[in-house]
Amino acid sequence: MKAFVYHNYGPPDVLKLEEIEKPVPKDNEVLVKVHAASANAGDWHLLRGEPFLVRLMFGLFKPKFKILGADIAGRVEAVGKNAGQFKPGDEVFGDVSGSGFGAFAEYVSVPESALVLKPANIAFDEASAVPSAAMAALQGLRDTGRIQPGQKVLINGASGGVGTFAVQIAKSFGAEVTGVCSTRNVDMVRSIGADHVIDYTQEDFTQNGQQYDLILDAAAFRSILDYKRALHPKGIYVMVGGATAQFFQAMFIAPWVSMTGTKKMATMLKKSNNEDLAFVKALLETGKIKPVIDRRYPMSEVPDALRYLETGRARGKIVLNNSNGTFAKPSEV
Ligand SMILES: NC(=O)c1ccc[n+]([C@@H]2O[C@H](COP(=O)([O-])OP(=O)(O)OC[C@H]3O[C@@H](n4cnc5c(N)ncnc54)[C@H](OP(=O)(O)O)[C@@H]3O)[C@@H](O)[C@H]2O)c1
Repeated sequence: MKAFVYHNYGPPDVLKLEEIEKPVPKDNEVLVKVHAASANAGDWHLLRGEPFLVRLMFGLFKPKFKILGADIAGRVEAVGKNAGQFKPGDEVFGDVSGSGFGAFAEYVSVPESALVLKPANIAFDEASAVPSAAMAALQGLRDTGRIQPGQKVLINGASGGVGTFAVQIAKSFGAEVTGVCSTRNVDMVRSIGADHVIDYTQEDFTQNGQQYDLILDAAAFRSILDYKRALHPKGIYVMVGGATAQFFQAMFIAPWVSMTGTKKMATMLKKSNNEDLAFVKALLETGKIKPVIDRRYPMSEVPDALRYLETGRARGKIVLNNSNGTFAKPSEV
């Protein structure tokens, strides 16, 4: 099968399209023919081995997992002997990051616990846009943030992969949602349901006197003590992503802030599981959330897709299409 493989950390050029052996599903696994995959910020961190923490977890000198890509949507081709949940032909989607990644390939073999049947009302490429980003948004809002109906919730980074899901999921929980993004994304963020939109090029939400019950931050680029100011006295700040320095700052300062006052601050790490994916699937089926797709690339252009994602300017998600199953060139898609 064809797959984008990398043997050394580096820029997207180190990804090589190679012919490798098709995986064979283990007893608890299913083999999925990948119809679409989506790219996540995590992919380019793993590609470059940055920040250094990534290397401690995924290989100090060389990447432990050679094929990137966490999110897939595709069709089950074969099932392992103990995998009874799916049958060949089933249309599934899921996050394969917990089982060694591998979405940027023609086939991937994954534990069936990482998959859920694809909602019938969306296409493969839309489904592939969902798992990682929506589960991060859901877990950040519901599990760490303890979101409640009627709360004032602010999503920083509302126009990105995680943020576009976070706005819609927070609305589905009955919150009053404020999205923060740049000028060019204001209309889009309003169109996905934000009650208020703050253009960060015009207004600083940490300085305008407004306070929120819950801040979900997918774009933390300033001192977390600035964010503390924008919290209601009993509010909680949840850092999902942003700059490395802010992440470390949050790891050390957030517990201290939480212990010494009424405001809470926390970081979160997405834990992929099929219960949360099923929860997200129900939101998709009822139309409460819809993936926002910025760009679609053919699967043959994974390096270009990651180059674009690395700019940090994606509006929603970036998907890789392999709908004709051949890593088609752009003209063939
Ligand atoms: N903790 C976890 O388990 C977890 C899971 C998934 C992702 N993450 C992390 O979460 C972060 C966001 O992921 P993502 O997929 O949403 O990334 P993304 O799609 O690459 O985010 C791009 C978006 O960020 C916005 N942005 C950039 N600077 C901003 C600023 N100063 N203020 C507000 N928005 C800004 C951009 O909007 P403009 O162009 O309008 O500026 C763009 O729409 C990444 O750091 C990722 O690694 C963490």
